[in-house]
Amino acid sequence: MSTSLGRRSFVRLGLAASVALAFSGCAAQGGSSQPSAVGSDPSETGHAPATAQGRDTKGDGTPVETLKAVTLNSGYEMPTQGLGTYALDYETCVGSIHALVAAGGRLIDTAYMYHNEDAVGEGVRTCGVPREELFVTTKLYPDQFAKPDAAIDQALEKLGIDYIDLMLLHHPGTGDVEAYRAMERAAAAGKVRSIGLSNWYIEELESFLPQVETVPALVQNEIHPYYQEQDVVPYIQDLGIVVEGWYPLGGRGYNAELLADSELTSIAQAHGVSVPQVILRWNCQRGIVVIPGSSNPEHIAEDLNIHGFSLTDEEMTRIAALDRAEKHDWY
Ligand SMILES: NC(=O)c1ccc[n+]([C@@H]2O[C@H](COP(=O)([O-])OP(=O)(O)OC[C@H]3O[C@@H](n4cnc5c(N)ncnc54)[C@H](OP(=O)(O)O)[C@@H]3O)[C@@H](O)[C@H]2O)c1
Repeated sequence: MSTSLGRRSFVRLGLAASVALAFSGCAAQGGSSQPSAVGSDPSETGHAPATAQGRDTKGDGTPVETLKAVTLNSGYEMPTQGLGTYALDYETCVGSIHALVAAGGRLIDTAYMYHNEDAVGEGVRTCGVPREELFVTTKLYPDQFAKPDAAIDQALEKLGIDYIDLMLLHHPGTGDVEAYRAMERAAAAGKVRSIGLSNWYIEELESFLPQVETVPALVQNEIHPYYQEQDVVPYIQDLGIVVEGWYPLGGRGYNAELLADSELTSIAQAHGVSVPQVILRWNCQRGIVVIPGSSNPEHIAEDLNIHGFSLTDEEMTRIAALDRAEKHDWY
């Protein structure tokens, strides 16, 4: 994972507080990920249709809608919370997937460059729930873009599963349009259900989208309270594309200051929850799918458990004010 800033252009258009309330709660979703026509009225959410699955309660007792899954523009449902597997070795990765599933989570994020697609496959096959209940994301790395059809087949082989729920291009690079077209072919062939992008921002999307047929189902970018993407998130959501945040807790090895932040600690204490739970809830109330990474079953269960409270508008505003455009990594 590179830390070299400035390897590619990155656009920020200012920090206007245009927080999109895409779904006001989220939960682990064990249901089907079959295509579904069911969705909330996009005019109500202002972006990709999302399926209401239940209700939640605001801190002041006011009930608010809770969404446990989003319906992607491909028609498939996706859980709104999951597990990131970056930097997890084989045994840890399998154990974390088992812990996720035991706690009710169903979404798993990996990538070719994490060198653990085989472990993710084992975790999926041995976790005790049917494959169809799980949602597996992987990504093609730019050094695979020259032979993307073979790379997709290799991912399926390493994962040892019949289809990939969501495949992303890991970040822009030479041959990315051709690689995306290969993912379009894989989707038509049933090897991949939904396709999308990672580390694409406004300028990159403006240039990329006119070159491809399929609107990405999802864009996965770095998002945490110190790097909020207050302009990029609504821009992507307004295209009907779901936004997913990587490094939601600031990133493995980079999160000590964030998890000790006094404002977040104050909000967490007010609700009797942890700082990670506040951060993950904040993401969900912005309509952002989250994939916190963890090797710790207690953390995994805690990170899924964000439904007993809601952040007030005032608390959302206080967290918005923490943004300091502090990118913790590139890829
Ligand atoms: N597309 C991309 O370019 C890209 C780049 C980076 C990452 N990603 C994806 O995003 C995922 C998330 O990133 P990440 O895993 O690096 O960072 P992260 O989710 O921001 O943070 C993970 C760190 O937080 C800790 N943690 C998790 N839950 C906790 C809790 N409840 N209390 C205290 N600490 C907690 C973990 O430690 P423990 O292990 O001790 O729980 C780990 O050190 C990755 O796993 C990967 O799937 C994508």
